[in-house]
Amino acid sequence: MKQIYLDHNATTPVHPEVIEAMLPALSGIYGNASSVHTFGREAKVALETAREQVAAFINCDPSELYFTSGGTESDNIAVTGTARQYRDRKNHLVVGAAEHQAVLAPANRLSTHENWQVELMPVDDDGLSSSDKLRELVTDKTALVSIMHANNETGVIQDIPALAAVAHEAGTLFHTDAVQSIGKTRVDVAAMDCDMLSLTAHKIYGPKGIGALYIRQGVKIAPIMFGGSHEKRRRPGTENVAGVVGLAKCLEIAQRQMDQDWTHLTGLSDHFIDTLMGRLPDVRLNGSRSQRVPQTVNLSFAGVEGEAILLSLDMEGIACSSGSACSSGSTAPSHVLIAMGKDPVVSQSAIRFSMGRSTTKEQLDYVIEKLVATVERLRAMSPYYKRESA
Ligand SMILES: Cc1ncc(COP(=O)(O)O)c(C=O)c1O
Repeated sequence: MKQIYLDHNATTPVHPEVIEAMLPALSGIYGNASSVHTFGREAKVALETAREQVAAFINCDPSELYFTSGGTESDNIAVTGTARQYRDRKNHLVVGAAEHQAVLAPANRLSTHENWQVELMPVDDDGLSSSDKLRELVTDKTALVSIMHANNETGVIQDIPALAAVAHEAGTLFHTDAVQSIGKTRVDVAAMDCDMLSLTAHKIYGPKGIGALYIRQGVKIAPIMFGGSHEKRRRPGTENVAGVVGLAKCLEIAQRQMDQDWTHLTGLSDHFIDTLMGRLPDVRLNGSRSQRVPQTVNLSFAGVEGEAILLSLDMEGIACSSGSACSSGSTAPSHVLIAMGKDPVVSQSAIRFSMGRSTTKEQLDYVIEKLVATVERLRAMSPYYKRESA
């Protein structure tokens, strides 16, 4: 049976060049980067070289970059660390309604346990947030605005410089989760004018369990973990030198491939959407067609459960996702699609196909054949399906 992987937003295979770059740091260079002896100093050099490379990629100073275990940890440090820093002066946070749980959950916890008021920044039916709306939400009590760059379920890209400008006008810090955009589109912290930015390696052919948080020079956030002076006390714990080397390498590869990847994935995505919609009625693309990372295609299939499609495709060797992978297992409709004003039934019929560098047109043609047959079969059995466009 063919095996086709269309779940690159969940994670990606590690690029062979990344593995090769990491090997020395897993074998010869095994010292603790905090040790003062030669072994430690060797590890420290590898760590700091990688920091310089990652910092150059996002256009910040190496001193502004803190390595973490990935996107979840970076988001938690940004949201909770800012709230704890400002708790005597401020009591209000604004977070995007379509954020990943790595932002929503710490914000909710601050609301239930630490008396913060959390306001959700709405998105329109295309998944986009407006700066005018943000202007209405921020007050002089707002400590942080956190709005993601590209959405993990729809790929929709927000206008971060415009949103950050509104936050700054109000004297508020601005954080963005760039986990799904880094390495796919330009992520430049100076151009985006953000105070904090989260990133991870495993969505861009790097290893799992390594990421970073950019914190602009001069921005103070309280530590949320304790036990060591690593990463200037903002993320204590022995540094994952091999992971950091892998992160730097996957970004180096992304840098040289970015334009080519974008063109390749735009062509594939257009082919997939147009061919599928030409073959099947009542299929909707969720999220803006133009303002998105092209590798992500989120489609609703009227009259059928996304979960049923997912399982049928899995039996055909095709891996995709219904809702966000992190919340799969739950049958609740996606909070992202609900935030976009989609009907819960439409939300439950959604499937996310996320392509990658190795995806081909032939693979997608195979997926289209299987998908058309699956949806037609499920619709024929569905008491809910009435052809909308007949
Ligand atoms: C937008 C977004 N933020 C954060 C995360 C969490 O990143 P990590 O898996 O590196 O903890 C993910 C992973 O799915 C994501 O898509």
